[in-house]
Amino acid sequence: MTTAARRPVMAGNWKMHLVRAEAEAWCAEVRAGLPAGRAAEVVVFPSFPLLAAVSAALAGSGVAVGGQDLHAEAAGAFTGDVAGRQLADAGCTWVLCGHSERRRDHAEGDELVAAKARAALAAGLTPIACVGETRDERHSGRTFDVLARQLEPLPDDSRLVLAYEPVWAIGTGETATPEIAEDAHAFLRERLARRTGEAAARAKRILYGGSVTPDNAGALARQGDLDGFLVGGASLDPKRFLAILTVLAAPEAALRGSP
Ligand code: PGA
Repeated sequence: MTTAARRPVMAGNWKMHLVRAEAEAWCAEVRAGLPAGRAAEVVVFPSFPLLAAVSAALAGSGVAVGGQDLHAEAAGAFTGDVAGRQLADAGCTWVLCGHSERRRDHAEGDELVAAKARAALAAGLTPIACVGETRDERHSGRTFDVLARQLEPLPDDSRLVLAYEPVWAIGTGETATPEIAEDAHAFLRERLARRTGEAAARAKRILYGGSVTPDNAGALARQGDLDGFLVGGASLDPKRFLAILTVLAAPEAALRGSP
């Protein structure tokens, strides 16, 4: 589990799901079920058209809101794109950068992802920069090369949060084992230590994403270099979202309680 210096993050990525009434119902249920005095930061990433409504529905709850993507430029003639400043104006304080679905479907490369992370920071948003290998890359022994390559251009900024999301585990129901996740997280932290020094690397929050559920969250959360979750499918159900948040706060208790 994370050290006291690294506040865990529970992030829900709704992807291209929900309309406003559904999103508002989600917010009401999560607000009502939030554990008191929770240790984790909680943030939800709705689609752009929902941002303002979700920000309003979560106002004062302590649950933050983020965009799923942003443009690398601050403004301009970029039809269909959204700027960091616009996200902030809609109530966002976070943004995802380089989610594997953006890399895959929109040909976002490492340099562009890094430029987006810089744009996020410039707009006062906390970026979660996503890295992770495909199944082929893992099977051909290239996992660490890929992670190093994706990490390389990202800005050295203490506000940036990393997410290790193995592509083969996203939306597949096949979660990384706790050992696989810990190996990747430890590798990322070690690379950061070489770059930015031990103290900054120790303070960096590295989330895991890929088929996280209330059932597998406990074993993952006990890993020393894992500082929270970026959850897709299971985040759409408020009960499962809250259950993962509870496990994140007390992974030992969750394991003791499991059959
Ligand atoms: P999943 O998605 O939890 O549905 O696998 C994770 C993600 O894409 O962030």
